[in-house]
Amino acid sequence: MSKNLIITIDGPAGSGKSTTAKLVARKLGYLYIDTGAMYRAMALKTLQQGIDPKDKDVVAELVGKTKIELKQQKDALRVYLDGTDVTAKLRLPEVTKAVTPVCQVSRVRQVLVEQQQRIGLNGGVVMEGRDIGTVVFPQAGLKIFLDASLEERAKRRHSELKAQGVEISPEQLKEQMAQRDREDVDRDQAPLKKAEGAILIDTTGLAIEQQVDKIVNLAKSLSAEGKND
Ligand code: DC
Repeated sequence: MSKNLIITIDGPAGSGKSTTAKLVARKLGYLYIDTGAMYRAMALKTLQQGIDPKDKDVVAELVGKTKIELKQQKDALRVYLDGTDVTAKLRLPEVTKAVTPVCQVSRVRQVLVEQQQRIGLNGGVVMEGRDIGTVVFPQAGLKIFLDASLEERAKRRHSELKAQGVEISPEQLKEQMAQRDREDVDRDQAPLKKAEGAILIDTTGLAIEQQVDKIVNLAKSLSAEGKND
């Protein structure tokens, strides 16, 4: 099949984007790109430098002095910040907190979006985030918007964090996720919304394999039709 399709997967936290995107990429032999990890790496840098993540001007200046690289290693995507592998640190609660203001700095978005566009230019990529179908690749051949109920998303994220040894009460996590949903949807910079032409998949009650198969089948039929943008 063609290697040239760009597949965008957007949706709120806990909608299953990462797991789904990773598996779709593996099944199609495509590159998997987690754009949230790029914003998280930028947030980590502000913390490492002792910079207030809310200080827009300083953060905007910092992005020009920062190198974020994504490297596919065996089955996993590793994230390098200025040459150091920081993958294990990106989901720490302090990084999750700092990323909200950092990802709203327009210069940060500009630099990272350009990088994402360069990575995906030739297709053969599954890119997930919040604005991939709306801003980064509005012309993508296949655009997906994943969603699920807040309850289900909080339950999934709770298990993920528990597996990583992060302790948080389910109620507190649900409240935090509701807050992040509001921030993602209401922000001025690239707010989270379903892109025009995107296919909505509600993953509440769906098994991961089901949502993966849906997307893989859509990709295969588009490739068979010769739609490779
Ligand atoms: O998907 P995630 O939780 O790793 O994303 C981390 C943060 O980055 C989240 O607050 C939303 C933001 N983000 C964004 O603004 N644009 C993207 N394309 C991806 C993530």
